[in-house]
Amino acid sequence: MNKFKYYAPTEVIFGKDVENEVGKELLKSEATKVLIHYGSERAVKSGLLDRVLDSMEENEIEYVMLGGVVPNPRLAKVREGIKICKDENVDFVLAVGGGSVLDSAKAIAYGAVYNGDVWDFYEGKEIIKGALPHGNIITLAATGSETSSSSVITNEETGDKVGVNTDYGRPEFTLMNPELTYTLPPYQTACGIVDIMMHTFERYFSPGGLNDMTDEIAEAVIRNTKKYGSIAMETPEDYDARSELFWSGSISHVNLTGLGRTGDWASHRLEHELSGMFDVAHGAGLSAIWGAWARYTYKEAPERFIRMGEKAWELDLVNLQEKEAVEIMIDTVLKYFKGLGMPINTTELLGRQLSEEEILKLADNASKAGSRTLGNFKVLNREDMINIFRMSV
Ligand code: NZQ
Ligand code: ZN
Repeated sequence: MNKFKYYAPTEVIFGKDVENEVGKELLKSEATKVLIHYGSERAVKSGLLDRVLDSMEENEIEYVMLGGVVPNPRLAKVREGIKICKDENVDFVLAVGGGSVLDSAKAIAYGAVYNGDVWDFYEGKEIIKGALPHGNIITLAATGSETSSSSVITNEETGDKVGVNTDYGRPEFTLMNPELTYTLPPYQTACGIVDIMMHTFERYFSPGGLNDMTDEIAEAVIRNTKKYGSIAMETPEDYDARSELFWSGSISHVNLTGLGRTGDWASHRLEHELSGMFDVAHGAGLSAIWGAWARYTYKEAPERFIRMGEKAWELDLVNLQEKEAVEIMIDTVLKYFKGLGMPINTTELLGRQLSEEEILKLADNASKAGSRTLGNFKVLNREDMINIFRMSV
């Protein structure tokens, strides 16, 4: 096995009605004044926020509220939250919603203890050296942000969508009630399924020697997500399917599926350019770009695709030529995405073909005008990124 460090300090509280425990959890975290951060009014109308407020009041915890987070969460909302935290002496940030709300809450937590502008962290000008403690009630199985170290924010003025990773991003707790995900529209459920799979692929298709336990976990996450993803699409109120997806989402991004490997992350970076420029859903951007990435890079280690095809997608690839086996594996994944109603190229994603000018701009942004490469499975330079975007149409 390769060297690795595994750190996952978030307390996970999973099951029906766990959101009602939020007050107790906040007391354990010694929160006295909490910013409750959420997205649309759905959180209010569904009654979820009422239950949260009841629990806070029972435990005599003060709070202020800030809603209005949108998918691909915006910097302006983060700055608004930071100002509230500073003005109101908030000492804990509680996110109630999907990955976008959680990422916005993390950014607020970083900015609330910093004197400069929070975007400094996302631009890489400053390193995060502290944060308000934060926790969440997650309502969407997808990003794994509920236990991950990441936060991804869009600067609406520049169109830049950037992620930062820091251990300060690890939530103190996550309350995961699978029933809260019953109301997800099929499109969002499907985006989540793709994202969970992609967090696993990004780690699996990357350099590293034998680390079989990690590979086995990754293959199990894919098998499970495929099986229960299909059930959740058919029967949105199937508790077991929603549970399995939810937990797979956390496992997929807490790095258990990538220990001892460097991780690739090129598909994610290319997708962040797509969602930064076109405001598309993250999962849809991933399903649109992955096929092109896979076909462009597979020669680096075709045996990884074949192993993944056999062990996770249960394909019989014995006695096939390498190229044919890999093609079958890639096609199988894309057919699965398509069956979920996800786009499998950028033309389907946008409803029109990417123009050559847009392709160049996407590659320029992703490569910072040719000054940075992406990925580790195959290191991609600007030309490679252009080729992948061209192949993705
Ligand atoms: O505003 P609300 O009403 O919450 O609506 C959301 C939103 O419209 C809705 N939704 C959430 N839970 C729901 C629900 N609708 C009905 N029932 C529920 N239970 O779903 C829509 C999408 O929500 P969003 O939070 O944007 O989706 P997701 O969780 O997929 O998050 C996507 C964002 O996370 C980033 C993505 O780039 C994107 O910006 N990522 C964050 C990561 C991380 N922090 O670790 C890793 C990922 O790779 C990803 O990059
Ligand atoms: Zn993702």
